[in-house]
Amino acid sequence: MKKILLNILKKYRLSTILIIVFIGLYIYFFTYPATIVGNIIDLLSDIETNKLELIKQSFYLLGSCILILAVRMPWRWLVGYVPRSIERDIKDKLFEQFMKIKMTSIQNIKNGEIMSYFVKDITEIRTFTYRLLTHATRFVFTMIIATATMMKNVNVNLTIATLCPIIIATFLVIKIKEYVEKSFIRSQKYFTELSEYVQESTDAIRTTKAYTGEMNQLKEFIKKNRMLKGANNSVDVHSTLLSTCLNMCFGISYGISLLFGTKLVLEGSITTGDFVAFNGYIALFVGPITWIPGVISRYKRAKISYKRLDKVFALEREKLTIKEVDTKNDDFIGNIEVKNLNFNYPNSIVTVLNDINFSIQRGEKLGIIGTIGSGKTTLMNLLLRLYPVQRDKIFIDGKDINDIPLKVLRDHVCYITQDNFLFSTTLKENIKLFKDGIEEEEINESTKNAMIYDDIQKMQNGIETVIGERGSDLSGGQKQRVVISRAFLNKSNIVIFDDTFSALDNRTEQLVLKNVKELVKDKTCIIISNRISDIKDANKIIVLDSGNIVETGTHDELLKLQGKYNQFYHEQAAKQEMALN
Ligand SMILES: Nc1ncnc2c1ncn2[C@@H]1O[C@H](COP(=O)(O)OP(=O)(O)OP(=O)(O)O)[C@@H](O)[C@H]1O
Ligand SMILES: [Mg+2]
Repeated sequence: MKKILLNILKKYRLSTILIIVFIGLYIYFFTYPATIVGNIIDLLSDIETNKLELIKQSFYLLGSCILILAVRMPWRWLVGYVPRSIERDIKDKLFEQFMKIKMTSIQNIKNGEIMSYFVKDITEIRTFTYRLLTHATRFVFTMIIATATMMKNVNVNLTIATLCPIIIATFLVIKIKEYVEKSFIRSQKYFTELSEYVQESTDAIRTTKAYTGEMNQLKEFIKKNRMLKGANNSVDVHSTLLSTCLNMCFGISYGISLLFGTKLVLEGSITTGDFVAFNGYIALFVGPITWIPGVISRYKRAKISYKRLDKVFALEREKLTIKEVDTKNDDFIGNIEVKNLNFNYPNSIVTVLNDINFSIQRGEKLGIIGTIGSGKTTLMNLLLRLYPVQRDKIFIDGKDINDIPLKVLRDHVCYITQDNFLFSTTLKENIKLFKDGIEEEEINESTKNAMIYDDIQKMQNGIETVIGERGSDLSGGQKQRVVISRAFLNKSNIVIFDDTFSALDNRTEQLVLKNVKELVKDKTCIIISNRISDIKDANKIIVLDSGNIVETGTHDELLKLQGKYNQFYHEQAAKQEMALN
């Protein structure tokens, strides 16, 4: 994160220098009006003699106002531009990181948490950058330029006496701010919890309604929302205490200036004009001092956000880069061999796959059937190295899967996943899925093969129809067929269908399977399904149970075994019979 941030900051160093220069000039010019007004006051003592000088000073006053405006405009624009650009660049980098980190890391991050990285944490960094460039810079320049002007133009002792309470105020602010911070950390924690809860509740709205759980969800939300409000209140109370202390210190400062300043005027050490100018200079401190708590608070918030983002940026990325020359389709045959494969998910002691052995050659079809949670999807995830695979366990074309660059591996395996995930974009984009240069005709052909073409034609904008979030406006069977279409566009040598026919009616299923058979006749194909009809013509069928291969063989061989497969077969046959009656 440090390196990323430094690189981003480097991009804007010229703009940042310009901001600092403009703010320096702005503060310098800002002392002019007080000085000129002081001069005018002194000149007013003898209007007749000083007439010409008075007119001159009035023009100076006008000129200084124009100068102030002239330097204000560019820095106001730049302080908007730089933090926004930094925010955009961090967002780009963060999204890139999420796309590239390993599955083992990403699955431990909740959706709500991801959103708060993008919405809250990056905003905190942007806001701090803004405050740093405007408020902190103005504070520093005011302290230096206004103090020097007060000392030079009016009186050193008066300046020191008046600034003492202001300096005390600055320290007080820093102390009280620690309490504000603690409340803020609590508030941020509750905010994240609330966001996660809202996200999860809206995702699960169908289940909630089906189980009439709305009131339970609402009660829990109210509880969490109250906690957030309590934490925010605490932040407000401490912030109010802070501003009260600040106002008090300023009151004392003005008091000292009035008493000490009047004494100096009466003694003749300073003129009335100097005294008026001095009060004008003090006013310059009011804004910058009151901004300091905000800057410190924003700094601490940004520090917390920085640490949170730093953790994300520290997560290990998948190495997608191809060191070797890009493997062409001809080099990647697609013969798979799995030897004594064991697997349990990171941070879990449960063995998900136990001593798995099988092999499949190009042109063959492997069927996998098994009970729920028996490890079918996990096995496919390992074939794509979505999780770490031990060496000497999985081989493709005789090569250890760990020696095949990830990009090559994933480009050559077409994995139609079980979750039927659809992006909220057009059907066309969903079917092409990250692939360019595909003709509309090819897409139409693939949808015909997946038996979804007619459904798409009936939609208002056909293949250009934008579908709702996660395909919410399509039926389960339609979603499956859209996802299956991807396989017909893919030129990969290995094609995997993970439980992708389950929502199709028997007739459609048989038609799709016929087309799949044609598609994979010269490819390596793995079909995972709990329907015997999907896999019965496979060259080899594996029966998985609790992570173990309990039976292997062809459909006929497995039936003869009178084991688990036979049991599935009879259960399904009985169900079909019942459905027919
Ligand atoms: N990301 C994960 N982290 C930890 N455990 C997981 C993860 N994914 C799956 N599991 C566990 O691994 C086991 C196998 O899951 P898997 O999804 O491979 O089963 P499956 O055979 O595909 O099931 P289904 O028929 O429901 O699709 C299950 O016990 C599941 O709880
Ligand atoms: Mg599965």
